[in-house]
Parts: sequence; C-alpha cells; structure tokens
Amino acid sequence: MKPGTELAEIVAHLKNLMAFDESIGLDPPRVTSSVSRYLEGASGIVRTLEDLRSHIGDCKRCKLSRGRKNLVFGEGSSKARLVFVGEAPGREEDLAGRPFVGDAGKLLTKMIENGMGLKREEVYICNIVKCRPPNNRDPEKDEIATCIPFLKEQLRIIQPEVICALGRVAGQSLMGRGFNITKERGRWVSYMNVPLMPTFHPAYLLRYPAAKRQTWEDLKEIMRCLGLEVKKNA
Ligand code: URA
Repeated sequence: MKPGTELAEIVAHLKNLMAFDESIGLDPPRVTSSVSRYLEGASGIVRTLEDLRSHIGDCKRCKLSRGRKNLVFGEGSSKARLVFVGEAPGREEDLAGRPFVGDAGKLLTKMIENGMGLKREEVYICNIVKCRPPNNRDPEKDEIATCIPFLKEQLRIIQPEVICALGRVAGQSLMGRGFNITKERGRWVSYMNVPLMPTFHPAYLLRYPAAKRQTWEDLKEIMRCLGLEVKKNA
C-alpha cells in the first residue's frame, strides 16, 4: 500500500472512531490544535463521494474481491435526505456495478417512486459490503468489518436525515448481532446520530408478499420523519 493511501486510511479510521464516540455520547478524544488542523487538512483526501471512491480504488482488502466482477460503491444523490442500506450486491449488481438493479432492486425502486413519491436518483442506495459474496451467501464478519468504514464514510459525507436498513444482514451489521428484523423492524433506532428505520429487504418481500403491508407502514414512518405528505388511506 502506498504511504499516502495508508495515511488516508488511518485518518478516515480515526474520524470514524471519533464519529462513533460522538454517536454514543462520548466526548471525542482531546487533540492538540495542531493535530486537529492536521486531521482537518488530511480529511480533504476523502471529502466527497468521488474522493472516497477513488480512495477505495481496485479494492483487495478482503476475500470478496477475488470473486467479484465489479465493486458496487453505491449511487444516488450526494445530498440525499434518505439513504437505503442493503446487504451486498447480487449477480446483476455485480455485473452492472450498480446497487439494486435486479428483481429486488426493481421492487425497491417501485417502493421509492410509486410508494414514497421520490425519485430513485434523489435518494442514495448502497450496501453493507461493496462486493458480491460467492453464491450470494451472507457477508462474513471479517468482510463486513473491512467494508463498513467505507459505508460510514459515505454516511458522513452525505449526512442524511434518515437511514433505512433493508433486512436482517443490514440491521445486524449496523445494530449488532442481536438485532432481530422480524421483531424490531418498524422501530426507530439511531446510527451515527442519524435516525434509522429497519425494514424488510425487498428480496424477502418478493418471497413473502404479505410482508409488504408492514414495510409500507415503515416507509410511511420515514416519510413522516422527512415531512413528506402521506396520503390518507395510503
Ligand atoms: N440485494 C442487496 O442487498 N443489495 C443489492 O444491491 C441487491 C440486492
């Protein structure tokens, strides 16, 4: 790894740690003004989503890189008020290099556009891990631990008003292993100081369409939180 890249990673990691401390109510560690100035300056390395994407580069940080065709960084507005976080790219996403473009993605797009009245381009859509796990297995602990700092960095850059976690893997990766999507969906929690609504994954809804009703309730909660109009009887 080039020294510049390594330094950028250390700085990004430090900043994530500080954001995490803040999110759980701890004062950030005290640093001298010169260190603080240095961190400010160095943070310019990953100030935008484009910076972050080029910083990630042709990532080989975990074993998922071996089987992927394309890294799926995420897409949407860098000023999105709402960020959807899924699990991992599937086959179609891997081929396209874009998140949620397969059948589950088509349903997610419908939920956003027909349900919530937003455009897909005005939200941001990404995943817990950026590379497809072999045979669509769940991402493993080490893969999640390696990739999640980049998701955190995306959230830090976008500063959304709401995060929507899609499904068990996203819920557990963000809220901890004890998180139970069936019991805890529909209840607000907080992640990096941002309100987070966990709901069912669209792939689950394709298998169990009866759960769409509950997901729609969760999306309406998000709409209310964003001050979007929820039509009566919707
Ligand atoms: N499922 C996910 O969790 N993410 C995608 O991008 C596609 C399907």
